[in-house]
Amino acid sequence: MYDKKTTQQLIKLGQSLLKDSRSAIPEILIDDLRKVINFHDWRYYVLSDSIISDLDYDTLFKKLKALEEANPNFKSKDSPTERVAFGLTKDFPSVKHIAPMLSLDNSYNAEDLKDFDESVKKLTDQEHIVYTVEPKFDGAGISLVYENDNLFVAATRGDGVKGDDIINNAKVIRSIPLSANFKQAGIQKIEIRGEVLIRKDVFDKMVEQQKQDKSDWQELKEKGEKNIGSEPKVFANARNTASGGLRMQDSKEVSQRGLEAFVYFTGYAIDENGDTILRKSLKTHHETLQLLYDLGFKAPMNEITVCENIEQAIKACSDWEEKRADYPYEIDGMVVKVNDLDLQEICGSTSHHPRWAIAYKFKAKTSSTKLLNVEFQVGRTGAITPVAKLDPVHLAGVTVSSISIHNEDYIKEKDIHIGDTVIIERSGDVIPQIVRVIPEARDGSEEQVVFPSHCPECETELKRVEGEAAWRCENSICPAKVVEGMIHFVARDAMDIEGFGKSQVKRFYDEGFLKNIPGIYKLPYDQLKELEGLGQKSIDNLTVGIEKSKIQPIHKLVYALGIRHVGKGTAKVLTKNIRDIIELKGFDLETLQAMEDIGPIVAESVHEYFHNENNLQILAELREAGLNFTQEIKENTGNQILAGKTFVFTGTLEKMGRNEAKDMVEQNGGKVVSGVSKKLDFLVAGAKAGSKLKKATDLEVSVLTEEQFLSMIVDGI
Ligand code: IVH
Repeated sequence: MYDKKTTQQLIKLGQSLLKDSRSAIPEILIDDLRKVINFHDWRYYVLSDSIISDLDYDTLFKKLKALEEANPNFKSKDSPTERVAFGLTKDFPSVKHIAPMLSLDNSYNAEDLKDFDESVKKLTDQEHIVYTVEPKFDGAGISLVYENDNLFVAATRGDGVKGDDIINNAKVIRSIPLSANFKQAGIQKIEIRGEVLIRKDVFDKMVEQQKQDKSDWQELKEKGEKNIGSEPKVFANARNTASGGLRMQDSKEVSQRGLEAFVYFTGYAIDENGDTILRKSLKTHHETLQLLYDLGFKAPMNEITVCENIEQAIKACSDWEEKRADYPYEIDGMVVKVNDLDLQEICGSTSHHPRWAIAYKFKAKTSSTKLLNVEFQVGRTGAITPVAKLDPVHLAGVTVSSISIHNEDYIKEKDIHIGDTVIIERSGDVIPQIVRVIPEARDGSEEQVVFPSHCPECETELKRVEGEAAWRCENSICPAKVVEGMIHFVARDAMDIEGFGKSQVKRFYDEGFLKNIPGIYKLPYDQLKELEGLGQKSIDNLTVGIEKSKIQPIHKLVYALGIRHVGKGTAKVLTKNIRDIIELKGFDLETLQAMEDIGPIVAESVHEYFHNENNLQILAELREAGLNFTQEIKENTGNQILAGKTFVFTGTLEKMGRNEAKDMVEQNGGKVVSGVSKKLDFLVAGAKAGSKLKKATDLEVSVLTEEQFLSMIVDGI
């Protein structure tokens, strides 16, 4: 970013600016001060290698602020002074990510990584794959969009499809450049992904201070002092402090959390003609990160290793696991990525994770504690979950006092007793688990866990279906099930009713204002207003949220209904080719099972749902309340010229991405399959095609170039 000569010049310039400079023209002074401050920000926040005293830095900053205030016409959006005091953001606007923010697949040992290598080789048809290995930062994901060199959007991960635009908060994170010279690299618009985190020592210091404040406060309270405010909080762990920080309303408070941002990926970068520059002028992941680093971003260039094969990548992962404790930031593993962007494109992604990358998770951290009691909770589907209440214990940055122990078989298998000493484990963002009990620690006072025979909420006798692990309450009006069902309905990834959370659902239910899902659309607002702590403002927000939910697409509504075994993906499959939700009632088991990824269990559950009177009544009431039940379905526009034909793509495609090619085939009635066999109709071979091409030639399968494939679609076979 700054070479030796520029560094020396900027140091000198800074020194002269610190001296009296009244005679200089303000415009030039302002410009020089900005350059010098940006340089020192970069040294401090990106390189972690400051070369200026705090006092000198503050003096320069104050000078710049004063000059800008005296000359408001020289104000600029990318000035370092723009990073402070943004005031309050009430509601963060929701933004759709340019491409979904995916997760990573996990691996835990060398074997898993070798399997990953095999699958990459198979997908790309290559014998040698170069990988990169870099830390898996344990913070909060962020997406940054720059347009014409300026930071334009900064969004949280949210549900992966859309997040909150928290740009004012991002601007106080000094390792995020407000502007960068992308033009120089031919980039007009780019989206960069990264992770916001807090350095371990910075976090520890904050916690130490908070603990001190808390004990001072408690002392005052014991003395009976008044007006001491509320009890000071102590942060639980660095990751939650970072992600909570991103969503704080007051950017001034955000600036005090010491947040930093590493960047590790870009999936979208276009030039002024709208053409992608990825895979064209940027060929590898390493080059991409190097470019970002050169432009002033905190890319992990000191941490990243380029590996010639998976064995080297495995070694890099285990070397890092050893030195993990010495690294200044929390990391919960390493990320192994295919370096070549062309090969990444060929690998593609599932709806959950890219196939060209995998997380290598470090071994979990464990603690031991006492199991005090077991409580039984009723879930949305009526399944009874035993929950172990623990003597609170610190584990990998969080305090654990309650842990699910799943079902009766699990309790038997692990021989869990009340009063046992148990070992609990937590790896990364995974929910803590009981690994085992320590029988040697028993003193005879331990008690057997007795599973209830009746529902703890409504006392209906519990049933256990053969082959299933859970005991269930089959009472469809069991209060616990109804409440959980409504919580699921309003949740973010279902109907996404803003201002309607878990506690509100429970409260309205307990107060008798809400009985079932359709009741959400018939709330007695006049009476709700009387509830303590619920002002006109909250009621207004709630009304808006509820109204907005009425126009959600039908796959969201189908998911929100809470049909057993129907997750978000299945809801999309079910609604793909229907115009109205009620069409699902007409589908028999066979039709349902013929759908993509729908097996007998899901089919049975959907069928049952749409043949239950109670559910049909709910649907009728929701329709009556004005919810959207319909959609237009895209007619297949292709003229089916590829009907019944199968295709395999191999090598690097120049004119289209893998997904685009797949869409084209499907729109024209054909099918893309994974392997080459005698039955295959066409192999489309791009550059660097390998063994698939050879196999196809051996089997005398027709081989097409990319151009031939395209003209086939335009002109017909
Ligand atoms: S690459 C398509 N690299 O881990 C790009 N992710 O558990 C996929 N993460 O969602 C992301 N460090 O928020 C990548 N070096 C790194 C990462 C990293 C942390 C996060 C990221 C991701 C999550 C998956």
